[in-house]
Amino acid sequence: MTKDLKIFKTNNSEVYVGNDVMLVLNEMLGRYANQKIFLLVDENTLLHCVPALITKIKVLEDAEIIEIESGEENKTIDICYQIWKTMADYEADRNSLLINLGGGVITDMGGFIASTFKRGIDFVNIPTTLLSQIDASVGGKTGVDLDGLKNMIGVFNEPIGVFVCPDFLKTLDKRQMMSGYAEALKHALIADADYWNDLKNGMLSDGNYWSDLICRSIEIKNQIVTQDPKEKKERKLLNFGHTIGHAVETCSLKTDAPLLHGEAIAVGMITESFLSNQILNLPEIELKEIVKTLKCFYKFNKLESDKFHQLLELMKNDKKNSRDEINFTLLQKIGEGSVNHSADFTQIIDALNYYNSIL
Ligand SMILES: NC(=O)c1ccc[n+]([C@@H]2O[C@H](COP(=O)([O-])OP(=O)(O)OC[C@H]3O[C@@H](n4cnc5c(N)ncnc54)[C@H](O)[C@@H]3O)[C@@H](O)[C@H]2O)c1
Ligand SMILES: [Zn+2]
Repeated sequence: MTKDLKIFKTNNSEVYVGNDVMLVLNEMLGRYANQKIFLLVDENTLLHCVPALITKIKVLEDAEIIEIESGEENKTIDICYQIWKTMADYEADRNSLLINLGGGVITDMGGFIASTFKRGIDFVNIPTTLLSQIDASVGGKTGVDLDGLKNMIGVFNEPIGVFVCPDFLKTLDKRQMMSGYAEALKHALIADADYWNDLKNGMLSDGNYWSDLICRSIEIKNQIVTQDPKEKKERKLLNFGHTIGHAVETCSLKTDAPLLHGEAIAVGMITESFLSNQILNLPEIELKEIVKTLKCFYKFNKLESDKFHQLLELMKNDKKNSRDEINFTLLQKIGEGSVNHSADFTQIIDALNYYNSIL
């Protein structure tokens, strides 16, 4: 029988996708036979993913499990401190291994913890949400938020391997699945019009397509990231929807109705598609198609106009900007992104008003 396994080579590592990835991980863990292995989880991956993992990889029965509370609000340096401390208490050394089992919060923060503990120990990512499987799993960005500002502290560093097992998605709720789907839509919009057409027609509704979707997204992201690992130019393509989206996400995290990352990015994709129409002449018909498709997948709420100023301030703070200009990745057309376009405040306010007007 052939193995259900695909391999993507990244700059310094590999991403394995398929329901047989644990065979590869099992073999890799042989290298750490006499070393301390730590397994970083949250309460949901402890419940839903650890049992299946340990059934397949017996050596992990002896791993030290470090559990944190789930949620973006815990992607902080304070939680890192607690984890570094726990690892030190358990006498982790330079040869120890950290396995991050969870969504993007666990893989981003775990990657940062491993990259800095004793100047860097090996780590493995086992992403368990759609978002982390198709996006956070590739590209070596690790880090935490600072006072609610997204990903302000971090380093680029790749895990020794990423193991993507679509079966883990079976316990993920619909809202989280759709949050990940937003990143797939982004991949399609910036790089692959055929993929956009497949996604537009609801590729996710059938579990048989999960692997296809994951592989197509990883392929797009990996191709971009291997050309430009440190985000000097091409990698900025992946920021489409994220300049306004991150500001909307940060603002919403302070309310009692926080948006998920992908939901905020969907707002960002509508507003930044409008800017693409204004600045790069993205055809009106394509703008309408993008809006119609996103409205069909996500339930949007209007942005309060008295928050616009706060959103602009957050955009100015965003790490992607040099000096006072707000830098955007926009769309030339569906399937073709273009980096380094600046928009002034009036244009951005127009985009926010446009978003409110289409709801
Ligand atoms: N490093 C990168 O390149 C990159 C790219 C995109 C996003 N990110 C980051 O990823 C984070 C968002 O990731 P996320 O959407 O995975 O969020 P998350 O890690 O908060 O996970 C979402 C929820 O799903 C739960 N969960 C995880 N796996 C599950 C499973 N198999 N079954 C049931 N529940 C499960 C988690 O406990 C959590 O409650 C953000 O912090 C974002 O900045 C990083
Ligand atoms: Zn994102």
